[in-house]
Formats: sequence, C-alpha cells, structure tokens
Amino acid sequence: MRTVYVNGQYLPENEATVSIFDRGFLMADGVYEVTSVLGGKLIDFEGHSVRLERSLRELDMRNPISKEDLLEVHRELVRVNEIDEGLIYLQVTRGSDGDRDFAFPDPETTEPTIVLFTQNKPGLADSPAAKKGAKIISIEDIRWGRRDIKTVQLLYPSMGKMMAKKAGCDDAWMVQDGMVTEGTSNNAYIVKGNKIITRHLGTEILHGITRAAVLRFAAEAQMEIEERSFSIEEAQEADEAFTTSASAFVMPVVEIDGVALGDGVPGKVALRLREIYLDEMRKVAV
Ligand code: PDD
Repeated sequence: MRTVYVNGQYLPENEATVSIFDRGFLMADGVYEVTSVLGGKLIDFEGHSVRLERSLRELDMRNPISKEDLLEVHRELVRVNEIDEGLIYLQVTRGSDGDRDFAFPDPETTEPTIVLFTQNKPGLADSPAAKKGAKIISIEDIRWGRRDIKTVQLLYPSMGKMMAKKAGCDDAWMVQDGMVTEGTSNNAYIVKGNKIITRHLGTEILHGITRAAVLRFAAEAQMEIEERSFSIEEAQEADEAFTTSASAFVMPVVEIDGVALGDGVPGKVALRLREIYLDEMRKVAV
C-alpha cells in the first residue's frame, strides 16, 4: 500500500482524508503539479515548484509549504514507496471553512489543503507508446481562459481523452479559432525540416516545464524554433509532430484526424529530442 502525504502527515493511502467541504472538491479551487521520477530522482523539481508558486499567486492562494520542505516531501515519498520510475502528484487547494460559499474563505483562518502521492510507472522512460507514436484527433477548445494556471479543472481534458479513445486514437489536440492550443495534458509541436513550431506562450496554454527544457535543448542542438500558432491542416502537412509533458516526456505523433504524418512512424527529430531530454534531465535530477 502506498504512503501518501496529507497536510503535514505521512499516512497509508486508505487512512488519508480530506473534508467534503474542501474547495478543491466543491469548486475545483485548487492547483497541481506532476513531477516525474527517473532512477529514483526528481526531474526538474525546480521548474515545477516555481510554476506551483505562480499558480498559487495568480489565484490569491496561500502557499502552505516552503520549497525546501516540498522537496523533502517529494524525496521522502519516493524513498518510502520505492519509486524508481514514476510520477509524483501534488495538489494544493484553498481548503475548507466547513461550508459552501462562492466567496473565498478568510486565508488567515482557512488553511490550504496539500496532498501528494506517488504513481509507480516502471518503463516510463523506455515507453512502448513512444516507439509507436500517438494518434491524435482534434477537438474544439472550450476550456476557460486562464490555462496558464495549472488548476484541477480537468473535466474537459478528460472528456477529450475519452473522445480520442472512442475514435480509436490516443489523445486529442484542442483547437481555438482554427489554431491548435495544446493537447489534453501536453504541449503540441510540429516539425518542418529542421524547424520546430510550437504555440507561443500566453493565457491560452499551460507553460509546460518540459516545453521549456525541450526548446532549450533544441536550440543547443542548432534546431530552429518558431513560437507561433499552427492549424490542424498545417500539422497534417508537416514532416513530424510531437507532444511534451512531465508524464510522457517527448511523445511522437504519427497521425492527426486520420492523416498519417510523413511515413506514419515516429519522426527523427522527436525521437532525438526525447533521447536528449532524458539524457540531460537524468544528469541534473535531484
Ligand atoms: N499535464 N498542457 C496541459 C494542458 C497539461 O495538462 C500539461 C501537463 C502540459 C505539459 O506541462 P509539463 O511539461 O509541465 O508537464 C501542457 C500533466 C502531466 C498532467 O495533467 O498529468
């Protein structure tokens, strides 16, 4: 049985509880982070903790834990749950003031709720899915307007994932005003020759921690980078496509809305970036 962390305590997962009045539960009033673990070490903990602080600040939510303590909790959970490859899920909500009200409770008297748990995923790095590549459908992006804040409002992305499954595919890319925003739980890219194209940052997409690292490595490898939006039609005509996320690193895309990309197998650029990302991030893992 897993050991999880709830509000300062390490507990067996079946003993960990949160109030039914918690605003995360009632209002999706919470933010989260997912950090991967490779070789028992955390990948880009720094990036995830900085984004967590930003998400909390944007929602006027108090940060219940220092960066040092947060790192310690991550490491302790990895240790006690013996995670070699996997993920750590972290959620902070505005907590519970014992009732339901649209107005935020007084932050002086209402403690945020903090929960962390591990997900054991052997074979995360040497993933069969990455060797096959993902098939994508496109769906309209009807999410709220502050997607740069990593909130737990994941109903529509979950629905998107189900629409993809129903269509016999792996994931969905969301489209707003004819342009791809991002995947249900990843950032989206296309490749044309030596050029990588991915949507510019803004409030329309999550500022992926993996995105930042991959673009840095791509620039170091002399690849050209264009941060601009692209359409599904442009993606279907591209040489390659891929997605990035903390949970799947660099994932090649081989098909979009039934159209095979290039020769329908994972592209060279995507596979190379995946390799560079894994190699480089392992070196600096904590
Ligand atoms: N999702 N865009 C969205 C909408 C996401 O949910 C995610 C991550 C990303 C990629 O961000 P990062 O590189 O920082 O993981 C982009 C996580 C993995 C999840 O919800 O499980």
